[in-house]
Amino acid sequence: MNDPKIAFIGAGNMAASLIGGMRAQGVAASAIRASDHGAEQRARITAEHGIETFAANADAVAGADVIVLAVKPQVMKGVCQELAEHLEAGQLIVSVAAGITCASLENWLGPRAVVRCMPNTPALLRQGVSGLYANTRVSDEQRQQAERLLGAVGLVMWLDEERLIDAVTAVSGSGPAYFFLLIEAMTAAGEKLGLPRETAAQLAEHTALGAARMAVSSDVDAAELRRRVTSPAGTTEAAIKTFQAGGFETLVEQALNAAARRSAELAEQLGQ
Ligand SMILES: NC(=O)c1ccc[n+]([C@@H]2O[C@H](COP(=O)([O-])OP(=O)(O)OC[C@H]3O[C@@H](n4cnc5c(N)ncnc54)[C@H](OP(=O)(O)O)[C@@H]3O)[C@@H](O)[C@H]2O)c1
Repeated sequence: MNDPKIAFIGAGNMAASLIGGMRAQGVAASAIRASDHGAEQRARITAEHGIETFAANADAVAGADVIVLAVKPQVMKGVCQELAEHLEAGQLIVSVAAGITCASLENWLGPRAVVRCMPNTPALLRQGVSGLYANTRVSDEQRQQAERLLGAVGLVMWLDEERLIDAVTAVSGSGPAYFFLLIEAMTAAGEKLGLPRETAAQLAEHTALGAARMAVSSDVDAAELRRRVTSPAGTTEAAIKTFQAGGFETLVEQALNAAARRSAELAEQLGQ
């Protein structure tokens, strides 16, 4: 398969990560271009990745196979309305914007093959995970193109229903912040137990990293891993029992429900 020509609309953090990921996987710089209204962003992305950039979004999409919408959700409607008349038949639209539905994109762009993605911030380190949903106009080849694109910055999970993007947002989209919160809380508690703050922070951070690596590489689930490190009447059991007595699992469920509800509300507002 020849490299499809990919045009990024918006050359900020997410576009830079995706472009860096693709370049690291051997995609030619000549197959990628980007537009951004900021001269500084254009200069940075050209310097870092050697790709051509444009000030006008319409210039970037001419002749592209895949158009990646990587602007903030709040400006997406205007960007799409301005792009609509410049799109060509057969182009795939990939949106990484939180809270913008396929229906909204098709309202603004006309009927189109659209893949809606929910990546997360560790994509910046190519350690992300993304949920992807394709509308019915997307061909198998276009699905592969979208998978290769998001796969350049982490794991890709396809969803059969678009509404599940709200659940993905709740679990992995907002998820890095939950782990940061746990690291913060463990650091503060470690400090209260007498550790220097920096030591407590490093212990908490590296424990999160090591535990995540164990969970990802193990062939048993997290519950079993936890059981294996929890000896009866031991220190871990004392902590886990305290978490559970405080309603930890219920609290996590409530938090994720709140995130999913907010994701659906934002999609409603941004689609207007
Ligand atoms: N960063 C993440 O980890 C992450 C995770 C999940 C999803 N996303 C999604 O990815 C999208 C981009 O996020 P980001 O963090 O990369 O944002 P960002 O760094 O602000 O990048 C967006 C870029 O688009 C430019 N822009 C704004 N209006 C434009 C227009 N009309 N035409 C062309 N370019 C325009 C912005 O310029 P100015 O700054 O000058 O306005 C900026 O350079 C968002 O929709 C977000 O929901 C990001």
